[in-house]
Amino acid sequence: MKLFIDTANLEEIKRANSYGILDGVTTNPTLLSREKNEPMSQLKKICEIVDGPVSAEVIALDAEGMIKEAKERAKIASNIVIKIPCTVDGLKATKELKSLNIKTNLTLCFSPSQALLVAKAGATYVSPFVGRLDDISTEGMNLVDDIKLIYENYGIPTQIIVASIRHPLHFVESARIGADIATVPFAVIEKLMKHPLTDIGIEKFLDDWKKLKGNLQKK
Ligand code: G3P
Repeated sequence: MKLFIDTANLEEIKRANSYGILDGVTTNPTLLSREKNEPMSQLKKICEIVDGPVSAEVIALDAEGMIKEAKERAKIASNIVIKIPCTVDGLKATKELKSLNIKTNLTLCFSPSQALLVAKAGATYVSPFVGRLDDISTEGMNLVDDIKLIYENYGIPTQIIVASIRHPLHFVESARIGADIATVPFAVIEKLMKHPLTDIGIEKFLDDWKKLKGNLQKK
């Protein structure tokens, strides 16, 4: 499973990239609004750090406007992927962008029917939002399960990006289901390698090593 970071913060992207595990970045208007920079120049800086796909969302709600914004964003760098909401106009824009060889990530996906239609329109990626479904007492990971099954039934090449990840279990469940990608906030990435038994084990090894050295010096 590929790991994307879900942020527009350059420091977080650089740090995650330095761990050697980063395959791409997803942004959205909310994440970009948290940064000081003008959004297009922020996206350019992100693309300079990461070789993998970087999702940049359109703001327009009509297909024509989405296509216009997509063409502008696609000029930022060759690894830009256009994030488009799961709407009827989003379908139309996706179809057109596919014919122009511009990659798309269909976002705000909350149902298997949306996932099937965006795939038919030619989406490169689909982003089911698991955390936001959990927020309304609906099992978010069930949606990923359904999409995976439907895509497998028909050999659909659209890749599943599990989004709105809130904790490490979402990440593990994504891998269990066989999602292509999980896009994870930096705070959750930091938790993925943490285990108290690892920390306790290191402390014990270092203690015993010190004792061994002390004993050898006494001899
Ligand atoms: O990738 C989508 C993500 O940014 C949404 O996350 O936590 O706002 O639901 P959240």
